[in-house]
Amino acid sequence: MIISSTLDYRKAARRRLPPFLFHYIDGGAYAEDTLRRNSGDLHKLALRQRVLKEVGEVDLSTQVFGQTLSMPVALAPVGLTGMYARRGEVQAARAAAAKGIPFTLSTVSVCSIEEVQSQVERPIWFQLYVLKDRGFMKNALDRAWNAGVRTLVFTVDMPVPGARYRDNHSGMSGPNAALRRILQTVVHPRWAWDVGVMGRPHDLGNVSAYLKRKTKLEDYVGWLGTNFDPSIGWRDLEWIRASWKGTMVLKGILDPLDAREAVRFGADGIVVSNHGGRQLDGVLSTARALPAIADAVKGDLTILVDSGIRSGLDVVRMLAQGADTVLLGRAFIYALATAGQKGVANLLDLIAREMQVAMTLTGARSIADITRDSLVSSVHESTEAAA
Ligand code: FNR
Ligand code: LAC
Repeated sequence: MIISSTLDYRKAARRRLPPFLFHYIDGGAYAEDTLRRNSGDLHKLALRQRVLKEVGEVDLSTQVFGQTLSMPVALAPVGLTGMYARRGEVQAARAAAAKGIPFTLSTVSVCSIEEVQSQVERPIWFQLYVLKDRGFMKNALDRAWNAGVRTLVFTVDMPVPGARYRDNHSGMSGPNAALRRILQTVVHPRWAWDVGVMGRPHDLGNVSAYLKRKTKLEDYVGWLGTNFDPSIGWRDLEWIRASWKGTMVLKGILDPLDAREAVRFGADGIVVSNHGGRQLDGVLSTARALPAIADAVKGDLTILVDSGIRSGLDVVRMLAQGADTVLLGRAFIYALATAGQKGVANLLDLIAREMQVAMTLTGARSIADITRDSLVSSVHESTEAAA
């Protein structure tokens, strides 16, 4: 199969993975309206072509939290990444490090913090949820720090899990799920060998290390479901802010008022995110939420954004609307499922090339040159004009 874009990787991942995994990755909450809006609203943003601007060599590099990134892109935390390719977190972290960008390890990864960090020189970022088991949170923070992690991505948009209809139908959950997963595995022999056999153990590495017992896929939905904490408030985060000596980023901000709260709280950065349309269906796309958030907090903290970004053009669109850096979620997961570390490295090359073309043809020599003037209009304006 010829691969020239994220779309191609998505098709290839669909063939390679058992359906319960493909749909877990690909799906969103409820009717998936927000999932569709994320990419739809990005596509509506018209880039402003400028020519004969003597652009020459384009510089994609940027500084985030005192770290140099070869381009304003990081890999988002994605649960169960080690189920999409053999020791998937290690493979993705290696590709990211080789390309000079950060990898974020999910709380609910297959490979533990220590396994991943020991395989790469570049410090990884670590994502943590607000969980009822504060002992787990303390333990995870200590282990991350001791392993060399200095950037904590704290996810705040999962006080309850969003309902994902596809998971019930695909065998991720729902009736006879375990049996259906086995049957799907039988008809996906390449995945069965690569991950099912060679990718063991399939535990939740960080949870097993804390509970001191093996965990399984069944524990995934169960442990998360019983451990999310809907009673969480800003005050509950204070002990983390006080005890974490590194950089703290709040992931899952979608409203300017919450972004202001994040500044007041003392966050170093936020991720403007709707969790890839996987939590509350019906909320704004991040492409539409971002401009007002940037107006509210730009310059006070670092603004990261994710949800729906599939190409270098999308990266430029988000930067033009005020983001400092973006996170890639599904885009890198499709590439990882298709071709492991090489797939992720190739995807990052594609994104960089697409950014170069977009920057050259919008007259931007460096990341700082990408501004709202790089767009003809924002989503907001174009939606209003259409109304
Ligand atoms: C996620 N996301 C996520 N976020 C997080 O903070 N911790 C996690 O463990 C996970 N797990 C997870 C699993 C899967 C399969 C997906 C697709 C996503 C959300 C992720 O970090 C990011 O916000 C979205 O993926 C961004 O949207 P796109 O780029 O996938 O459209
Ligand atoms: C998800 C959780 C794990 O989006 O963040 O599936």
